[in-house]
Amino acid sequence: MKKWYAVIGDPIAQSMSPAMHEAWFAENDIEAAYIPIHVTAAKLGEAVASLKNLGCSGWNVTVPHKSAIIPYLDRLEPSAQQMNAVNTVHVLPDGSLVGSNTDGLGFVRSLEEAYGEQCKQQKVLLVGAGGAARGIAFALDAMGYGPITFTNRTFEKAEQLASDLSNASVSSLAEAETSLADYGLIVQTTSVGMNFAQAGMPINPMNVAGGAVVADIIYNPLETELLAEARKKGAHTMNGVGMFAHQGALAFETWTGVRPNTEKMIKKITTTLGG
Ligand code: ATR
Repeated sequence: MKKWYAVIGDPIAQSMSPAMHEAWFAENDIEAAYIPIHVTAAKLGEAVASLKNLGCSGWNVTVPHKSAIIPYLDRLEPSAQQMNAVNTVHVLPDGSLVGSNTDGLGFVRSLEEAYGEQCKQQKVLLVGAGGAARGIAFALDAMGYGPITFTNRTFEKAEQLASDLSNASVSSLAEAETSLADYGLIVQTTSVGMNFAQAGMPINPMNVAGGAVVADIIYNPLETELLAEARKKGAHTMNGVGMFAHQGALAFETWTGVRPNTEKMIKKITTTLGG
C-alpha cells in the first residue's frame, strides 16, 4: 500500500516541507505522499492518535508542538531527549512512535556540505539561547566542534544552556561584539532579522574576522542584515536553507533509509525564495 507522511503545526500553510519531501519521493522512485495538516494545540493528542490509526508512517512536527508532543510518544532518541523537543516521528512496524530531532545535526550537515570541516578546531559563538541554539550546540559538540561560547540578550538563559554542556562558556553581547574576531564560526539562532518578526541584528558583526564563517538559521529573507554586514567584512556566510533541507533529509532517511539529494534541493528552495 502507498505510504504516507505528514507535517503537523499551527500555522502550517507556509511549510515548504511537503514540496521538498514529495520531490524527494519522486526523485527516488518511492511511492509515497507527504501532506501538511493543521493541528491546533488543543487537538494535538487526538491528532497523534488519528495519524497512528489512519496508518501514517511518520511525520514532522513544527511550531508549536515540538515539546508538547513528547507525552504522546513511546520513545525518544537521544537527540530529542537532549533538546526536549521533537521534529520527527517515526512509526515502527509494531506501531510504536519514536521521536527524534534532526534540527541540530541538520545544521552541522549543512555547514559541512558548504565548508567541509574548516570550522573544526575553531572557537564557536552561538548567538541566542533558545531551543534552536540548544539543538545546534549539542550537535556541534557531539561532532567535535568547539569550544562553544553562548551569548544572548537574557544572560541567565545563556548561562543555563552553557551549564548543560561540558566545555562551554558565556559572554555578554557587548563582550562578544568586541572579541568577535576570536571566533571562526558564529551561528545566529534567534528570530531577529526574520521577515515579519524583527528587523535588525542581535549582534553587530563589525569586528568579525575575514574568513570566519557566519551562519544564520533564518532563510526568509535569504540574506539577513547580519549576513549582509558580515559579508561586507569579508566573512563567509551561510543562510538557513541548508539547515532546513538537511533536517528534512535526515527525517527522510529515518523513514525510508534513502539519503536524498540536498544540494539540488537547496538550489531549488533558494530559487523559490527569490535567490
Ligand atoms: P527557538 O526555539 O526558535 O530558539 P526560543 O526558544 O523562543 O525560540 O528562543 C528565542 C531566542 O531568540 C532566545 O535566545 C531569545 O532571547 P531571550 O532569551 O533574551 O528571550 C532570542 N530573541 C528573540 N527576540 C530577540 C530580540 N529582539 N533581540 C535579541 N534576542 C532575541
